[in-house]
Amino acid sequence: GRERREPMSTNNVWTHKGTFLLAAVGSAVGLGNLWRFPYLAGENGGGAFLLVYALTIFAVGIPILIAETMLGRNSRRSPIMGMRFLTRTHHTSRAWESIGWLGAVSAFVILSFYSVIAGWAIHYTGLMLSGRLIDADAERVAASFDVLLASPPLLALYHSLFIGASALIVGLGVHRGIENGLRILMPALFVILMVVLAYAVMIGDMAAAADFLFTFHLADLSLEGWLEAMGQSFFTLSLGMGAIMAYGAYMSGDASLTGTAFTVAIVDTAVALVAGLAIFALVFGAGLDPAEGPGLMFVTLPLAFGEMPGGTLLGAVFFLLVLGAALSSAISLIEPVAAYLVERFDLSRPQAVSAMVVASWALGLLTVFSFNAWASDSPFHELFGRSPFAVLELLTNIFMPLGGLLIALFAGWVLTHGEVTKEMRTGASWFRVWRLLVRFVAPAAVAFVFLRSIPQVQG
Ligand code: PFF
Ligand code: NA
Repeated sequence: GRERREPMSTNNVWTHKGTFLLAAVGSAVGLGNLWRFPYLAGENGGGAFLLVYALTIFAVGIPILIAETMLGRNSRRSPIMGMRFLTRTHHTSRAWESIGWLGAVSAFVILSFYSVIAGWAIHYTGLMLSGRLIDADAERVAASFDVLLASPPLLALYHSLFIGASALIVGLGVHRGIENGLRILMPALFVILMVVLAYAVMIGDMAAAADFLFTFHLADLSLEGWLEAMGQSFFTLSLGMGAIMAYGAYMSGDASLTGTAFTVAIVDTAVALVAGLAIFALVFGAGLDPAEGPGLMFVTLPLAFGEMPGGTLLGAVFFLLVLGAALSSAISLIEPVAAYLVERFDLSRPQAVSAMVVASWALGLLTVFSFNAWASDSPFHELFGRSPFAVLELLTNIFMPLGGLLIALFAGWVLTHGEVTKEMRTGASWFRVWRLLVRFVAPAAVAFVFLRSIPQVQG
């Protein structure tokens, strides 16, 4: 049958040895860095949050990143077909195939709400350029956010534009679309981030920001903060979802797994830190509250932009950065599912991408209505006690760690010593450290994050 098809042709290997790095960084750097990290750090006491986050990235995130890339490169197939291939060649339980399915479902669900939120950045780019928020007071800025959230047509329009743009890039193919897109997007993002940082240094309160992010108060370290930090480290590295596995399937056999994983983690963390510093410098400079929650980027920051000289231009540039970073992450959510549909059903790439994106777009309407008609009263509230968006977010909070846990266990216990050393090609001691981490440390840590969702499910 079709399952036994040969692995993808070399046509589907990245053009350059370093392209996987570019693609993985593109996937990792996104709303998680620019939107989620700063507000979570703000809500959970800055330095204490950062410490747990960094520890998890290095002790759990990097080993799983290596494991997930390894599964992709070793199977040279999309996550679902790749896991099927690996369970067959290892004569092991088909239950491991759930890694591929979990990833596909999570990718589909995350894309549905990621696109709605990224769409807000389209609105704010326009709002900044229009100059309507210059010298606006807090009430007016908050009101403009409320107006956006109250309008299903507007939210759906931005959602459609964003998801359509992502689909276009992936639809053009691995080389013509994804590679070319990333080659333009990523350097542009770097330049814009530097501009925002330079501006924040000049007119913001960088000392207060650094103090807030780097001063560690043990008392701030609540259990909830620990768990949030660990969950965030998974989301930010795009782990446990098949995105990294799908990109890993195209990775050159010569590229170093360990070196690449470290670089991805370091760049992703650096971007979160630079974004956090810049955002808090602007927020403190304008005398605003850092613990604003999800509204930090869409209410507090525009307020700060409105008060500063040249703030409209800087604000527009900042929201373009958010958009570009979200776009390069969204394409990594489409690729694993699209690649599966192409491999399994012989669909053309545009057909596969359309199928995935149209379904995810429709699911996204649940998120659209979560901010207005279904904000406090819906069938979801009756069933789960929360809005559809909150249900979807909770679902991914469960699936991502679960996927990461299974990936760590599979790479740690099922792959043979020979396969792993062929992929890793690091010294024996590094190998031993990695294996210890994926066999025991990562599963234990992830189980801990996972357990967090139980009281949440119980509401
Ligand atoms: N890592 C992305 C971010 O930080 O915004 C989000 C993400 C992208 C998660 C792709 C998962 C994924 F597969
Ligand atoms: Na990230």
